[in-house]
Amino acid sequence: MLPPVTSEDDACHIAQAVACHRKENHHDENHHDAESPVRGDAADGLCDCAVAFAQQEATNTARSSGRYLPEYTEEGDLILPKNWRSWIYVGSPLTPDALNDGKAGFPEFHNVYIEPGSYEIYKKTGEFPEGTIFFKELQRTLGPQQFPDGSRAEPSGRGYFPGAFNGADVTVKDSKRYAPTGSNWGYYNFNHHEPKAATAKVRPKAECAYCHQASAKKDEVWTQFYRLLDD
Ligand code: HEC
Repeated sequence: MLPPVTSEDDACHIAQAVACHRKENHHDENHHDAESPVRGDAADGLCDCAVAFAQQEATNTARSSGRYLPEYTEEGDLILPKNWRSWIYVGSPLTPDALNDGKAGFPEFHNVYIEPGSYEIYKKTGEFPEGTIFFKELQRTLGPQQFPDGSRAEPSGRGYFPGAFNGADVTVKDSKRYAPTGSNWGYYNFNHHEPKAATAKVRPKAECAYCHQASAKKDEVWTQFYRLLDD
């Protein structure tokens, strides 16, 4: 059991531990090494090198060895994270437009991913480390709707089926960077339509964080809906 990240130095040790763990479990079923932006760098030689992580604060823009950390523009906007579809998939809450007066707040499937290096640390510590990224990709239900509730009948049964991608919402944990916003997390919208925006500005607490703070189970994350992350 590794301790929570309390300093950059601890973070460095944890990053090394995770990298070594990955190396040992190179063929683990959860590890899509070929697709990940970090795996190529992380796969070899990390256990005996001094990881540069200690030099990087979570507020920094560069990627650490073994993790994909948030990247920001010079103006401080978040750059659309890379390769999220090869991250750890934790769940798909579904709020069909047709069940929400034609306009769900977050239409419709919410495919939620967590950055894999952060997930490894969370599994060991039970805490989301600084730099954790959640990516919620929205996806429309497949049309045309056959029933008033928006559902369709397909060979597998009547229900909702995935259609077009539809933008994304992203959260990033950084207790220093986002402290002025009243949260440990930064909240970003990359459009509720395609294409996704290339960059996004942090949203005020009154738009996003207040609701997560009120009802999400753990550290502003709705772990109650993600079996992999729930206790
Ligand atoms: C009225 C409440 C509410 C507001 C406002 C809200 N969210 Fe959420 N958010 C949720 C709920 C509930 C979930 C989990 C279930 C779901 O997605 O339907 C969620 C999940 C998420 C997730 C997936 C990770 C997690 O924390 O579970 C992200 C990313 C996210 N929201 C970003 C945002 C952003 C960005 C905004 C503002 C633009 C925002 N949210 C505003 C209720 C809210």
